[in-house]
Amino acid sequence: MKNHTTLGEFIIENQKDFLYSSGELSRLLSSIKLALKVVNHEVNKAGLVDIVGNAGATNIQGEDQQKLDVYANEVFMRTLVNRQIVCGIASEEEDDFVIIGGKNKSHDNKYVVLIDPLDGSSNIDVNVSVGTIFSIYRRVSPLGTPVGKDDFLQPGNLQVAAGYVVYGTSTMLVYSTGHGVNGFTLNPALGTFYLSHPNMTFPEDGNIYSINEGYYIHFPQGVKDYLKYCQEEKENRPYSARYIGSLVSDFHRNMIKGGIYIYPTSSKSPKGKLRLLYECNPIAFIAEQAGGSASDGYQRILNIKPKELHQRVPFFCGSKNMVAKAEEFMAKYPEEANY
Ligand code: AHG
Ligand code: MN
Ligand code: MN
Repeated sequence: MKNHTTLGEFIIENQKDFLYSSGELSRLLSSIKLALKVVNHEVNKAGLVDIVGNAGATNIQGEDQQKLDVYANEVFMRTLVNRQIVCGIASEEEDDFVIIGGKNKSHDNKYVVLIDPLDGSSNIDVNVSVGTIFSIYRRVSPLGTPVGKDDFLQPGNLQVAAGYVVYGTSTMLVYSTGHGVNGFTLNPALGTFYLSHPNMTFPEDGNIYSINEGYYIHFPQGVKDYLKYCQEEKENRPYSARYIGSLVSDFHRNMIKGGIYIYPTSSKSPKGKLRLLYECNPIAFIAEQAGGSASDGYQRILNIKPKELHQRVPFFCGSKNMVAKAEEFMAKYPEEANY
């Protein structure tokens, strides 16, 4: 039998998973759904920039055209602020976190959102999939007061929900509230998301590795050794190399097919490139909820206590056995754990 559950129905039906739920998280997820539809609409028109105007140019109303990552950031910020549904937002596109409320009632909201509004943005120019990543925490500061840094600097294992959108051949939303992972595909004619991938699970093993191997020369020795292992002719190896350069898309493929994504430290980016709060924690939460795993090469990503908002971290994420194997190689170089 075909499953015709819509995202809206699913959010409401699953509210009962949360004891004493007030519906606040459901309303927050619905706000995110609205914002991502707006961003999706704009991303789909990206190829028309030469016709409707380039970023940095001025449009017919005399307004400046914006780059899509700035635009996406504004849409998510505006939607969440207007609906007064969170007490604070931190975004990859903002220098500092944003307190929502002033003297009004939104300080009474209990959730903060962290977001990478447009991931893989360099792919926009060439019509390749991009994404959005979000992460939700319960605030630790008292209700009714303005949020502070500690509300955002929580370890990933305290996430209440996390998700991502792939603006791909189809637009999909994949999210988890800590009870497994579900994927929804947008029917663009109706503007409705349908549950297309219930209970997504990461294959325990895979044969895809995803890394920007062009930087090989700059990688730590543990990563170099692991890559040689991936390329060896033995058992089910050599693996296939697949790298889109858009974390969301690379991760999404690997979760469906089985694989590992690596963005290590390198002499070019000594702490890695990806951001712990906006990219690695939410993706790690989903990976684990689907039975996969995520590590910095030495420890579980979700156990790391963040020190700053824009902190970077090396990232090894994917099929459980593949991540464990990569960690084995890294363990031979313990000095590299102090990145
Ligand atoms: P963003 O567009 O949000 O800055 O993120 C880009 C990230 C990630 O999506 C991708 O996997 C990685 O950067 C690609 O980096 P390289 O070009 O260095 O491989
Ligand atoms: Mn990103
Ligand atoms: Mn981004």
